[in-house]
Amino acid sequence: MPAHAVLGAQWGDEGKGKVVDFLSGHADVVARFSGGNNAGHTVMNEQGKFALHLIPSGIFWPQTVSVIGNGAVVDPDTLLREVTDLERRGVELKGRLLISERAHIIMPYHIMLDRLQESAKGSRAIGTTGRGIGPAYSDKASRSGLRAADLLDLRALKPRLKVILEHNNTIITRVYGGEPLSLDEVYSKCVTWANRLAPFFGRVERLIHERLAKGQVVLLEGAQGALLDLDHGTYPFVTSSNPTIGGACVGLGIHPKQITGVIGVFKAYCTRVGSGPFPTELKNEVGERIRHLAQEFGATTGRPRRVGWFDAVAARYSTQVNGYTSVVLTRLDVLDGFHPIKICTAYELDGERVTDLPGGTAEFERCRPVYEEHPGWDKPTASVTNHKDLPEGARSYVERLQELIGAPIDIISTGPKRHETITVRPVI
Ligand code: GDP
Ligand code: IMO
Ligand code: MG
Repeated sequence: MPAHAVLGAQWGDEGKGKVVDFLSGHADVVARFSGGNNAGHTVMNEQGKFALHLIPSGIFWPQTVSVIGNGAVVDPDTLLREVTDLERRGVELKGRLLISERAHIIMPYHIMLDRLQESAKGSRAIGTTGRGIGPAYSDKASRSGLRAADLLDLRALKPRLKVILEHNNTIITRVYGGEPLSLDEVYSKCVTWANRLAPFFGRVERLIHERLAKGQVVLLEGAQGALLDLDHGTYPFVTSSNPTIGGACVGLGIHPKQITGVIGVFKAYCTRVGSGPFPTELKNEVGERIRHLAQEFGATTGRPRRVGWFDAVAARYSTQVNGYTSVVLTRLDVLDGFHPIKICTAYELDGERVTDLPGGTAEFERCRPVYEEHPGWDKPTASVTNHKDLPEGARSYVERLQELIGAPIDIISTGPKRHETITVRPVI
């Protein structure tokens, strides 16, 4: 029963979209299990360049079925836009996309509350994507969320929505001084969503179990990254779901023994969008150079990403939480021509050297990186598809990262396009 998870191993935007598109040639089912349209997964293949927010990145392979699990939160407007855009660009979705009836819906008041909460936090804002993710998961946990299944029973929905909306309107108006939303308008959105999305809602959990029982390959597409995990990340500067391996089980209703491969996707350096501790951040011209060279701007919000050297302390922690059986290293080409390249192997915290991640944010903010230097390389790695064609310096950098991460680097990505990939050892 081979399910393989592809997980963000740092702070998101590691290149999961590219990797899932690349690996999906071997997959029968590709499943999202957490997060929502805070994710932006870029895919570049013969069909063009795509930035996907909800629909799994395996959708371009005709033999695959794409599913969105119960652990994800779905903004129906974004989903409909994505469906329309993909169909317009020739990607057939009929019978190939299924969304769990248990998935929670991101409602207009969630989006409004996300923005109001962020502005109320002032300088302590998390820097969320403003997509309503936090409020939607909060409602889920407080048992006042609406699920896809609720859209399929509109008559029962209206009285529930009335109570839920009254509660949210009270918070919007009395706590934040915002404008209340009208029940009729929100309800009529639900009617539109129900009409257009009903064919896509179904029993995802059953589909996955049936496919696994047949021995088919299921690829679990992570969103965000380990350091943004609600429990294991740099709380409170995290997202509101679990992008780590446990989230894959909960978010799809599968059990740990069904997951035979855990593939961690790391960038050859680090980036982070939004606020929160980032010990290796480069607030200098080297960081600027990487940002512009690599076009490190968010696929969802267009915000400039913060850039830093590879953080092996965070990487080891990420391996500890997820237990990678394989690693994919992306964006190696971005470091072509950089001398030296630094790797953070420890932190200095209040005069002491530490090699594990502090649990408290204040402590983490005080951590200073301890670097080892790597000489770098001159011959380009960009677009290289064969391991032996990598310059010696790049090979030794990859080997050193592998040692520090503590899991085998089986795939190296040398460009954004599907074929710009080196397979050192097949992972599926
Ligand atoms: P995701 O959220 O993890 O799917 O990553 P994003 O799509 O948000 O950001 C990754 C960016 O890196 C995208 O613009 C990709 O096209 C690009 N990318 C992925 N792999 C590589 C690579 O190996 N080299 C380069 N230069 N770009 C890459
Ligand atoms: P992908 O899947 C990078 C960050 C936001 C913010 C924090 C909380 O493309 O890797 P949220 O809107 O989730 O409440 O924001 O998490 N964040 C991401 N950063 N990549 C992502 O997704 C992210 N999804 C959320 O920037 O700091
Ligand atoms: Mg992204």
